[in-house]
Amino acid sequence: MLKILFIGDIVGSAGRRAAARVLPELRAEYTPNLVIANAENAAGGFGLTLPVYKELTAKIGIQALTGGNHIWDKKEIFKDITAMPLLARPLNYPRCEYGAGYVLLDIEGMRVLVASILGRAFIETPLDCPFQAADNLLRKVKADAVLVDIHAEATSEKKALGFYLDGRVSAVLGTHTHVQTADEQILKNGTAYITDAGMTGARDSNLGMSPEAAQKRFLTGLKAKFDVVETGALLFNAVYLEIDVRGKCARLERLIRRLD
Ligand SMILES: [Fe+2]
Ligand SMILES: [Fe+2]
Repeated sequence: MLKILFIGDIVGSAGRRAAARVLPELRAEYTPNLVIANAENAAGGFGLTLPVYKELTAKIGIQALTGGNHIWDKKEIFKDITAMPLLARPLNYPRCEYGAGYVLLDIEGMRVLVASILGRAFIETPLDCPFQAADNLLRKVKADAVLVDIHAEATSEKKALGFYLDGRVSAVLGTHTHVQTADEQILKNGTAYITDAGMTGARDSNLGMSPEAAQKRFLTGLKAKFDVVETGALLFNAVYLEIDVRGKCARLERLIRRLD
């Protein structure tokens, strides 16, 4: 039995602090043998650097990281990604020569595939079809359990991928909107699904960023620089899931922890 914690977008140092503080307690309660986190906002709210990668993996003990549209925001990732073997950047960037779109792990004798896929609805980047990318990956890589992070804006696109992959993967877990959705469900053929696992970061924030910048954009129509919130109350969002030896989900639970 695979027992997995999947943490929603870790945003900045507040997110890393929240994960470091909550994980020991969750490890005691759920005894997960695999911890995964979305890390596209882990470094200062935008992207991922090598020191932050090391903090999340070596220090906090996260075994696989997934990406998203912000994964390339810190330019040093283009040279450092070769030193980040536990990072799955989005699979469906066309002709992407940097890193890999998935991570393969051996957990208790089970071959576990963790993939990151970006949606296309309301996302301007020209990307390969997420559905075809999933098909191609499943043809190419065989595993006992497959976890797909679908990083997308539109609920309908995420649901479509969930139903499309039902019975062929263990879980389709959404990220990117930074708000946990209450629609977790084990689909008919055994695939765990949630539209968004949520965000791990500063609680008094607009999706991890300072409320003022977003407000200014909406009120004036002018660009305002987003600042990550590093201090104050913390929010931890994740899902816990159990995957049996056939790769089917046996249990799925949303987790929310609030820290001061
Ligand atoms: Fe994000
Ligand atoms: Fe994102």
